[in-house]
Amino acid sequence: MRKVTGILAIVGVAVFIAGYVVTGEQNNTKTYVQENLLTIPPLIDSREVNNDIELVIQNGEHEFFSGIKSITKGFSQFYLGPTIRLYQGTQTRITYKNDIDDPITVHGHGLHVEGKVDGGPQSQILPTQRKSFLLPIVQEAGTSWYHPHLMGKTAEHVHAGLAGLYIIEDENSQTLPLPKNYGINDIPLVVQDRSFINGKMKPYTVTSEQMTDGLREETLVVNGTINPYHLVPAGWVRLRLLNGSNARFYRFFFADNAPFYKIATEGGFLNQPVTMTEITMAPGERNEIMIDLSNHTSLSLRAAFLPPDPEGESVIEALFSSDPSVQRVVDLRVDKALSAQGTLPDKLNEIDDYSQIDMRTAVRRTLTMNMANDNATVNPHNMFAINGQSMNMNVINVRVKKGDLELWTVTGDEMPHPFHVHGVSFQILTHNGEPPAEEDRGWKDTVVVTEEPTEILMRFHHTATQAFPFMYHCHILEHEDGGMMGQFTVLD
Ligand code: C2O
Ligand code: CU
Ligand code: CU
Repeated sequence: MRKVTGILAIVGVAVFIAGYVVTGEQNNTKTYVQENLLTIPPLIDSREVNNDIELVIQNGEHEFFSGIKSITKGFSQFYLGPTIRLYQGTQTRITYKNDIDDPITVHGHGLHVEGKVDGGPQSQILPTQRKSFLLPIVQEAGTSWYHPHLMGKTAEHVHAGLAGLYIIEDENSQTLPLPKNYGINDIPLVVQDRSFINGKMKPYTVTSEQMTDGLREETLVVNGTINPYHLVPAGWVRLRLLNGSNARFYRFFFADNAPFYKIATEGGFLNQPVTMTEITMAPGERNEIMIDLSNHTSLSLRAAFLPPDPEGESVIEALFSSDPSVQRVVDLRVDKALSAQGTLPDKLNEIDDYSQIDMRTAVRRTLTMNMANDNATVNPHNMFAINGQSMNMNVINVRVKKGDLELWTVTGDEMPHPFHVHGVSFQILTHNGEPPAEEDRGWKDTVVVTEEPTEILMRFHHTATQAFPFMYHCHILEHEDGGMMGQFTVLD
């Protein structure tokens, strides 16, 4: 894409128009000229509520388009849930009240907590039931998230709107001179794709082809907002990006390819900021990026929708591929009345480098995500597998000893799969057969794997028993629900 600057100007125009076009009825493109102020999920700071939080899992009616109600679900609101701020060294009690008709579980994706409070498929909360979980936070600062994890129903529940962010703070994050005003210059962006028919969100259904590719829809929704803009100060802005989609991969970039800085991966800050002009994110991944708006009046963040197999595609190739959508994530508009705060530090973290450890001490495991099961059956929850075995809640696939260095070599058949592990952050030793890129040398819990091997290194410090094991799985939610998941215990 570096060679085709001539095309950029033309593409810029196409993108501008695309930002205003939202697919309405299928085969019938409707144009919505309306823009919406970005919704910022309400913030619950655990310190301000005595470390005691209650969330109600409820049915809702959310207006993606004003005046048109869609049937949705949310945590104490109609769509998505509040952002919960937790602090290292504290314990917070979170109580869930289930007001929907399905049983539910609520998993803390990215949290380093024990299996019994991890919210895996075993931790059911039945309709009308209320259940509390005590979350002791020992991990470093980062952006995690919570979402349902009921066996076979995760995709449907997340799609309906059940997801929210955790922001974890520690001494380092509070001392660094970063932008810190939530919703003003520290902005959460939960990115999802949805289909709309006459302005109403299409409820979750999948064809068998969509089971295979994962459900990929046409319209970008950010924090539940369509075509959003947001007012920001004329200074540094920090964006916490979560790809909360069921299956869609995106390539994010700013208008005019303005450079930005990546400062954090899922599990914490990078050692130092990395300059980038585009960033690809798979479902489940989080990244924090920063951009300086002091010389701008506005700047638009955009997403190229990647097809199921985006290999080798740049933003421009993606534009002209079979799935050419580029849409606005958010238009950042400078408001001089807002006071700027924060800057980009040169140094952010000190990550101890696992690759320096003697690998002979590592416990090695090999995992392959399969698009078919060894003894394929017609059971939809048995379509996919890992190492030939579909997820079975009665089977423990892997037994880990607490504290051991684990080296997992992970591959995935046919298409890229975001591989996720519960209860830990890992480091990438090799990514698709190559050394990891500078911007991936941080703590992660989700990584895109292909047929080329990816090696990850980690140590598990939190207990997970046979009754409440941890999961590893593909974060394409259709694949997860279809059985591309396994269970492991962590014991002394
Ligand atoms: Cu985001 Cu097993 O989950
Ligand atoms: Cu998880
Ligand atoms: Cu997958």
